[in-house]
Amino acid sequence: MRGLGTGAGTWDAAILISFFFEHIRTVHNGHLFLPSTSSEDIPIDIALLTDQKWVEIGAGTGVTGMVAAALGVGKVIVSDLPFLVPLLQENIGRNALGGKVDVVEYDWANPAPAECRGANLVVICDCIYTNIPWELLYRSMLDLSDPALCAASGKPPPPFLIAYEQRNLALTKKFWEMKTEHFEARRIGVEHYHPDYVSGDIELWVFRRRTLNN
Ligand SMILES: C[S@@+](CC[C@H](N)C(=O)[O-])C[C@H]1O[C@@H](n2cnc3c(N)ncnc32)[C@H](O)[C@@H]1O
Repeated sequence: MRGLGTGAGTWDAAILISFFFEHIRTVHNGHLFLPSTSSEDIPIDIALLTDQKWVEIGAGTGVTGMVAAALGVGKVIVSDLPFLVPLLQENIGRNALGGKVDVVEYDWANPAPAECRGANLVVICDCIYTNIPWELLYRSMLDLSDPALCAASGKPPPPFLIAYEQRNLALTKKFWEMKTEHFEARRIGVEHYHPDYVSGDIELWVFRRRTLNN
């Protein structure tokens, strides 16, 4: 669709992550838990369960969030720039997911809306690449995981599930360097992906906000 930018298409990473969810649903009964294996490792806990609230930012067509809701997540908020809101609403309606998936307008240049707080998981799919304002994305991640704001919502800072497609490593290097200051990160091994949806250049990561103690 013209004029809607990169959000008007569904990207390969969104397909891979959607089938990753489907694999969790069928193989792990909806809940993938990978404990820490060393002090360097954070646990991975992805629960496609009704008591969960997930937030997707930079959702584009909303496929990833809609698949999560269709597979069991109780409430999903999909968000993107204002001009993508009608497309997201239409897609949710066509898939009869109203009530389970809500649309919220959220430009990373602004403070996160209240609806995006209190999540168990924040999903970011294919939003780290050269010509995207990834500094704003990073600021949004800091905002959504701000310890004081999270405490006010009664939940710990949410982990981030990030699907990253390698395109130009040199140009996104700064993002990966920058993250170390505020986040611990663990890559999800491809053995946990859907076996038919593995790609040499798409990676799944979990980021967790560092606490003052580490
Ligand atoms: C490559 S698309 C990915 C879309 C979708 N997540 C997928 O994987 O199919 C990048 C998304 O980031 C969104 N985006 C870009 N700048 C943004 C901003 N400042 N605030 C919120 N979303 C933004 C775009 O509108 C677009 O939907």
